[in-house]
Amino acid sequence: MQINSTEVPFSEDLDINGSLKEFLLQQQIYRAAIKEIKTKLEILDEEFQARYDHNPIHHMEYRLKAPQSIAEKMQKKGLEITAENIRKNLTDIAGVRVICNYLNDINRIANLLLRQDDITLVRKNDYITGPKKNGYRSLHLIVLVPIFLAERTESVPVEIQIRTIAMDFWASLEHQLKYKGHSDMSEGLRERLKYCAESITRLDEEMQMIYEEITADDCEQQ
Ligand code: GTP
Ligand code: MG
Repeated sequence: MQINSTEVPFSEDLDINGSLKEFLLQQQIYRAAIKEIKTKLEILDEEFQARYDHNPIHHMEYRLKAPQSIAEKMQKKGLEITAENIRKNLTDIAGVRVICNYLNDINRIANLLLRQDDITLVRKNDYITGPKKNGYRSLHLIVLVPIFLAERTESVPVEIQIRTIAMDFWASLEHQLKYKGHSDMSEGLRERLKYCAESITRLDEEMQMIYEEITADDCEQQ
């Protein structure tokens, strides 16, 4: 399993107000939360490999939200940028993306993670059962994970996006295309992108069935 890091470096001379600077010192805690989730998922993946000779996880990506994006999101919400406001209102500062091999791996991984005693589910958006209007599919979880510090324990939110390789392919290109167009995308282009998302759904389902038939054959031969 390969891990890609796109972490935003801490910048000393950010020209934002002092409380955000104070908040940036908290980045360490968010980084720790990412590590915790990453380790939990790696352990689950390795157990599956050992037990069933199958890796549910293809790879993971993770990121800390950039200070600029934090400030923009707070402004959009009409909130003053204070460390406390950020902590209470932004649940996607720490983000982990889990790219699974097969469709069934998504719920398998999500359920095994959510069953763990120290994980609290805050929000679940199932855009697989109910895709977004544009065709976007993924399972989104916001969870709280405890981080044990020298003086206290902090419950830290992490946004986890779980999707197949095919869903990730579509989402990455759709994201790029959205920003490439200088004006709003035409209805025709939106329809074509949605058609691609639907084709990908069929591919995911077919690949799942092929996998099941092949592994069922394996079991019979043993
Ligand atoms: P945000 O304010 O964007 O965080 O929205 P939200 O709080 O309603 O969360 P949601 O679960 O809808 O989306 C969070 C994240 O999922 C985004 O930041 C993207 O990374 C991803 N995402 C959601 N919708 C789309 C989409 O239509 N296309 C792509 N490419 N990614 C999406
Ligand atoms: Mg977001």
